[in-house]
Amino acid sequence: PIPVILDVDPGVDDALAIILALQCKDLDVRGITACFGNRQLWRTLRNALQLVELMGRDIPVAKGASEPLCKPLREYDGPDDHLIHGLEGLGPVVLPAPTHHEVELPAPDFIAELLRQSDEPITLIPVGPLTNIARFVVAYPELLSKVRAIHLMGGAAVGGNVTPYVEANIYSDPEAAATVFACGVPIVMCGLDATLQCLIYPDEEEALIQGEHTHLAQLAHDMLSVYEKGEEFPGSALHDSLAVASVFCPDIITTKDCYVDICLTPGEHRGQTVVDLEGRTGRAPNVKVALSADRLKMLDLLRASLNGPF
Ligand code: BDR
Ligand code: CA
Repeated sequence: PIPVILDVDPGVDDALAIILALQCKDLDVRGITACFGNRQLWRTLRNALQLVELMGRDIPVAKGASEPLCKPLREYDGPDDHLIHGLEGLGPVVLPAPTHHEVELPAPDFIAELLRQSDEPITLIPVGPLTNIARFVVAYPELLSKVRAIHLMGGAAVGGNVTPYVEANIYSDPEAAATVFACGVPIVMCGLDATLQCLIYPDEEEALIQGEHTHLAQLAHDMLSVYEKGEEFPGSALHDSLAVASVFCPDIITTKDCYVDICLTPGEHRGQTVVDLEGRTGRAPNVKVALSADRLKMLDLLRASLNGPF
């Protein structure tokens, strides 16, 4: 199996991504780090601990950043009735309080420790703001050679979901994204171009619990019941699952090698992943940008992960 570290901000789609990663026999999840993002750090960390326990797994979870590298221009938490992932982060689902604690090391040091202990390079899968990964990159440049690749959910070649140009994870910490995108490790960017093709439609959500079904299928159904619902959403995007799937099932996305820069200028472009799709800058590509994804394959993988180890 491919050794990986997940960096998450659960988050409904993060929760589905965690389940996918833990059930997939082709992945060896060495650790999970939590970041602020969809909700505050105390909630995302708790949710990560709860999910690992729910899955009956003994995977260490580390506490990461509670805020971006630089002062945010806006607060993240909107009014509590407009929260896309629900108040607690997992939609309406309330899981039992975790009985385990996070590891002592903070996320960047924990990532470093896992890399040091490993005989083989490890793939990082960040699916929240890139703060933890950026802190690791800055603190441990000597360990970057042990990172096989970074498969991240974030950004977009075209469009955004916070401003017309900016995706939420990069929006949440543009300076961190700039650090990570320039770090020299091979990057696969599963951004909105691809993840918005991985929708699960309401009838498919209902089908998860038709007939005999597992407690994980029920959990997924319940979490999805409030996530990305309403007129602006024809279905719920499995954003973070796609980044996980791209590691063990690379054919699920089509990619283009591009130079990608992060816009740090104040304004509605701040946090934009500026993708040189046509090679006009002449700069060497630093990112494999996912431009499309296989929705039906993603759904198959989701269903498999809800049924048991696969
Ligand atoms: C990303 O933002 C979060 O809401 C999701 O968990 C996903 O990682 C999509 O823009
Ligand atoms: Ca996320």
